[in-house]
Amino acid sequence: MEKYVIKGGNPLVGEVEIGGAKNAALAILAAATMTDETVYIDNMPDESDTNAMLQAIASTGAHVERVDRHAVKINASAVHNYTIEDYIKKIRASYYLLGAFLGKYKQAGVVLPSGCNIGLRPIDQHIKGFTALGATVNIEHGIIDAHADKLVGSHIYLDVVSVGATINIMMAATMAEGKTIIENAAKEPHVVDFANFLNSMGANIKGAGTDVIRIKGVERLHGTEYTIIPDQIEAGTFMLAAAATKGDITVKNVIPKHLESISAKLIEMGCQVHESDDAVRVVATRRLQNTHVKTLPYPGYPTDMQPQITVALGLASGISIVTESIFENRFKYVDELTRMGACIKVEGSTAIIEGVDKYTGAVVSAPDLRAGAALVIAALTAEGYSSVEDIKYIERGYEDFDQKLRDLGGIIEKVDSERDEQKFKMKHA
Ligand code: EPZ
Repeated sequence: MEKYVIKGGNPLVGEVEIGGAKNAALAILAAATMTDETVYIDNMPDESDTNAMLQAIASTGAHVERVDRHAVKINASAVHNYTIEDYIKKIRASYYLLGAFLGKYKQAGVVLPSGCNIGLRPIDQHIKGFTALGATVNIEHGIIDAHADKLVGSHIYLDVVSVGATINIMMAATMAEGKTIIENAAKEPHVVDFANFLNSMGANIKGAGTDVIRIKGVERLHGTEYTIIPDQIEAGTFMLAAAATKGDITVKNVIPKHLESISAKLIEMGCQVHESDDAVRVVATRRLQNTHVKTLPYPGYPTDMQPQITVALGLASGISIVTESIFENRFKYVDELTRMGACIKVEGSTAIIEGVDKYTGAVVSAPDLRAGAALVIAALTAEGYSSVEDIKYIERGYEDFDQKLRDLGGIIEKVDSERDEQKFKMKHA
């Protein structure tokens, strides 16, 4: 089984190019099936999640042509299968094909997504939206089936701010008759990017990025060429890596405004943060100071950046408090971090962190995507050797993660044998 082996202690220094946003790409790829014309998408991240979405799309009969690592052409004129049964186990986001196919074909079926390591992940708000638009939604034999004679615009109030539900309902409403209003909508950058993509196909969506999204249904959508925005969370992950390793990293090809809540916390922690048009530089030469963080929907501090800041605060002076307000089980990695010497007590949705002078290398396992990346950061700061197992989670959402860290001076390699691990340790003795 592949894992990362790491020798900690080197500050990470240099520049890193940030790729396309995974959570925008997954929605945009699904929505590309809503026209019978060809859609060209670039700046797509080459990660297992986006590749699994492309497989799910191809399984419906759509034509998927990989132009290069970061660009794809999709033509859905030949779609013949409206029920996707295989891929949801690989990625939960294949449920975006529900909204896409319900909008375009007025019928869709997707295997009910399971929970994951960060919480239950219900989809009641997705179903609430589809039903409000006139669809009949049944869950039978583990399949969510949604169908409608026609979809009619509606006034939908989300009970909880949900990125997925906002996106899925937007897709179905785009091809409903009349007007739809989505209240309490998610405002994440990838929700805005998604709305911009749909509008580039001829949709009529206004208000994305605010609490209220207004959609006027259209008869059909046309082909488009679209470039996905940079990944806010990949950028934030490298920014926190700079902070934790007392390094100096410039994340390039980013939209600084999307990173404001992360930059603000880094400044509270004593880092220098320098912004330019499409780059942010984080310099952390002194020991980090403690602070408090509460994860919130955008523009608040992102839940997907919670493990990374907890790792950094675990090395800060003083007591810090991190509250996870989005998911109910997103501190599982703290047990792993404790093996590296962290002093953190989790009480429900709050982690009370007493900063320690250093972490020490250990064998840890990635419980989920973002926690896995955070444990790699911890290992890069730790004294001695670490190995991070279950890196398949990390590779779902980070392209060339180990290579990018090596280019910044991190001593990290991906190995899949005991022999290679020993070779790594001898090379870096
Ligand atoms: C998206 O998940 C992201 N995934 C997640 O990123 C991210 O953590 C999350 O948004 C929050 O920003 C993708 O975009 C593919 P939600 P999603 O619906 O849409 C509750 C990563 O690491 N809820 O905004 O599933 C839910 O339980 C991943 O890239 C309902 O109650 O998240 C949670 O408490 C991890 N009913 C809250 O809303 C619903 O019908 C926010 O979830 C839907 C959600």
